[in-house]
Amino acid sequence: MSDTQQQAYRDDFEKFLSHTNEKEILFGEIIKEAEKRNAQSLLDIGAGNGLLSIPLATHMARYLAVEQKDSFVDKLRAAGLDTLHDSFPTHIEERFDIVLFSHSLSYGRKTRMDFEPFIRAAWDLVAPSGELLIVTYKGQEDDWTHLMERVGENPIDSNRVGYNTLIMLLNTLGEVKVHKVKSIVKTGTLEEMLYALSFVASDGEPVKKEKFLEKRVRVEKILNSEYQVAGGIEFPFWHYLISTYK
Ligand SMILES: C[S@@+](CC[C@H](N)C(=O)[O-])C[C@H]1O[C@@H](n2cnc3c(N)ncnc32)[C@H](O)[C@@H]1O
Repeated sequence: MSDTQQQAYRDDFEKFLSHTNEKEILFGEIIKEAEKRNAQSLLDIGAGNGLLSIPLATHMARYLAVEQKDSFVDKLRAAGLDTLHDSFPTHIEERFDIVLFSHSLSYGRKTRMDFEPFIRAAWDLVAPSGELLIVTYKGQEDDWTHLMERVGENPIDSNRVGYNTLIMLLNTLGEVKVHKVKSIVKTGTLEEMLYALSFVASDGEPVKKEKFLEKRVRVEKILNSEYQVAGGIEFPFWHYLISTYK
């Protein structure tokens, strides 16, 4: 990405974040789970830019982030987080009460072989009586996938096919429990919602963003008729918290 494209990505990302309560919702759910299990230590794989990881770190007696992206590592370290700058799987000696992947297992994974190296390596790092916690989407059933399908996007692309494969693999390791939570993107205007969703559709790639915006008439029609609330538009995203207990 060129510097201009990177700046455009950061601007779109900031705009998207300003309209969503995703990080607060996930933070609340992860901390609830940690308290329920009396977990003292957390390994946060794919810790991101700090919006979720910094509050998480402050709530744990021991916290370690693993992050591959240079600029995010700088942010995490600047905030005082113990951060391993690496691409997981990587060698870690320590064991943790909770090993977390929060939206960091890529949605493109579909087969058991796609997941296995990450899941097995993470499972090895879970302390006895600890938990592997994966936060992800289940594309087959959510509003976002339905919206994309209805505007003619290839459902295979927008569908997070790997969910069932992942559950099958986790079932071979331990007891699995799934808990579903909703975050909301809320905007005052249709135009703001269109741009917030264009960020989700494109993940910052300009060509994909344009492709999404070409469908604006159909998207706006659906948003207007099905997602209008007092004071604007509200669009839900469903997050699946998948716990596997050791
Ligand atoms: C969508 S962000 C999620 C950030 C944060 N966990 C959250 O839920 O807000 C995914 C992050 O995982 C990181 N990531 C993805 N695969 C990774 C890997 N194999 N090793 C380390 N970091 C990874 C990316 O660089 C990115 O920062």
